[in-house]
Amino acid sequence: MASGEAPLFERLGGEVGVRALVDRFYDLMDLEPAYAETRALHPTTLDGSRDKLFWFLCGWTGGPDHYIERFGHPRLRARHMPFPIGIRERDQWMACMVQAMQEQGVESALAARMGEALFSTADWMRNR
Ligand code: HEM
Repeated sequence: MASGEAPLFERLGGEVGVRALVDRFYDLMDLEPAYAETRALHPTTLDGSRDKLFWFLCGWTGGPDHYIERFGHPRLRARHMPFPIGIRERDQWMACMVQAMQEQGVESALAARMGEALFSTADWMRNR
């Protein structure tokens, strides 16, 4: 990160902004037929998924470590092993997040940077 640049967490609007992004992400996943296969991997109710992604992204963007405080090391790849994740699921997850960032008005330079970093993580989650 360039010196003098605010952490991603602050630029996203802190906890309120990260929560709004995660809520939009899961609302879209629930609503958009284009994300149906990725939606189908999740529990019927998305309440727990919303909380976990919110807690995780707070820490991942440089804010409070809510996720680690509750669950320890994220071990994200291991935690995703029960779900068959291939290119289709990865691409749906990413497209859903990109759409959520757009709709939440995340500035384009920030969205591009988040998108790149999230893509690496999403690609690493592939297990099929
Ligand atoms: C590549 C496509 C992905 C798919 C299909 C996927 C799917 C899932 C599913 C089905 C769950 C379980 C939901 C639940 O326990 O309620 C989950 C949990 C989770 N995902 Fe993903 N995910 C993907 C990528 C990502 C990425 C890129 C991140 C982070 C940037 C992420 C972060 C998390 C977190 C933090 C949890 C909670 C883990 C736990 O504590 O059990 N996922 N994901």
